[in-house]
Amino acid sequence: MAGKGVFKDMIDGEVYKYYADGEWKRSASGGTVSILNPSTRKPQYKVQACTQDEVNKIFDSAKAAQKLWAKTPLWKRAEALHRAAAILKENKVAIAEALVKEVAKPQKDAVTEVVRSGDLISYTAEEGIRILSEGKFLVSDSFPGNDRNKLCMSSKIPLGVVLAIPPFNYPVNLAVSKIGPALIAGNALVLKPPTQGAVSCLHMVHCFHLAGFPKGLISAVTGKGSEIGDFLTMHPMVNCISFTGGDTGIAIARKASMIPLQMELGGKDACIVLEDADLDLAASNIVKGGYSYSGQRCTAVKVVLAFESIADMLVAKVNAKIAKLTVGPPEEDSDITPVVSESSANFIEGLVKDAREKGAKFHQEWKRDGNLIWPVLIDHVRPDMRIAWEEPFGPVLPVIRIKTVEEGIHHCNANNFGLQGCVFTKDINKAIMIADAMETGTVQINSAPARGPDHFPFQGIRDSGIGSQGITNSINMMTKIKSTVINLPGASYQMG
Ligand code: G3P
Repeated sequence: MAGKGVFKDMIDGEVYKYYADGEWKRSASGGTVSILNPSTRKPQYKVQACTQDEVNKIFDSAKAAQKLWAKTPLWKRAEALHRAAAILKENKVAIAEALVKEVAKPQKDAVTEVVRSGDLISYTAEEGIRILSEGKFLVSDSFPGNDRNKLCMSSKIPLGVVLAIPPFNYPVNLAVSKIGPALIAGNALVLKPPTQGAVSCLHMVHCFHLAGFPKGLISAVTGKGSEIGDFLTMHPMVNCISFTGGDTGIAIARKASMIPLQMELGGKDACIVLEDADLDLAASNIVKGGYSYSGQRCTAVKVVLAFESIADMLVAKVNAKIAKLTVGPPEEDSDITPVVSESSANFIEGLVKDAREKGAKFHQEWKRDGNLIWPVLIDHVRPDMRIAWEEPFGPVLPVIRIKTVEEGIHHCNANNFGLQGCVFTKDINKAIMIADAMETGTVQINSAPARGPDHFPFQGIRDSGIGSQGITNSINMMTKIKSTVINLPGASYQMG
């Protein structure tokens, strides 16, 4: 159970503590932040409202711990990560319970998120051993005037202290996708969990605590954005920020100092369906891609661009599948569960209202109960409707009918976002040419967009982010190159 058993030290009365210096602590502020259950809309958990002074102390101990950790043999770092992965998986039920209660993740998906996170940590440990144990040698005679008397030896070294800010929708998985690479590369890690999802994150951090990482190497600080948000992201002791979330990322990027940034900020992933597509395959992927976790995934299908000639048939197949989706509480493993907050539900309703007023066709009745929104497919959407461009992060999906491939590509590329896209066709040549023309970080051919498998490169362009994720890329991103040049005496070769 969340907060009990091996997790009992994390909680004080009904307030979860923050994690610093290898201990669970109460904030001197005496304040707390409340986390609402999206299903009941009542307070579910409370976390500490940490102060700037506590943040400063966290960075001091992170810096000190990192110096020693960087000298810890790679195999020992990997061993500790493997231990954390195993402990995380052993406690999947308790952590999933927190995911269900604070982000309304369907029970089964919540368990899957924890297991996937354990797998990600283990792979990261192995990949770290592979890529960090390699160095590079260069000799010097490629440039005029040089001879072979200089040897340049390069290796990857840690950046220092990495600040990780994961989002509410995968608070555990997208936290470990930052923590694992940071730690294997020899960095210290400060985690700022999302408010909604904080308790799941804290449980995950406790698994790292139980795995025996050095004190101060990992910390988790909770609190109010107004008090510690900018203070954390602009802190002079942060050497790298890895952020996943919404527009806040753009503000962070503008304010951050000259440090590497890894940002994933959402998407409006387009799904282009051509006349020759396997429509059953496309329909299954549209429903899975558009509605799983109630559409609250950066990689969800967020606009369908269907050829007019097949659009009616495709829409009928999608509607038949939508009719089978179950709607209800996450505890019952419903397909569609309440969206994360009332303000999200209001935003989604606003997009739907705009589309309705401008003449879009609805195939399902609009129904909302609190944060629970019944799935809808919004057909005959036109570019003047907000839903054509904006990211609802909810179970509502627009269909735009297109006459040419160019029209589909244009819509995809005219968007501010550029995370992923997908194309359904049996013609592989066309698929590859369309993939080439779609200006997104990834294009999926004959499947819905998705981040995983977690070692695949994952990146967005434009407002979808900067830097590339995926295990290998994240490890590389959280290191810098250090070169040592050995200068041997004199030149060894004379011309003529
Ligand atoms: O929304 C976050 C994004 O990373 C989605 O991941 O695994 O659902 O494709 P995934």
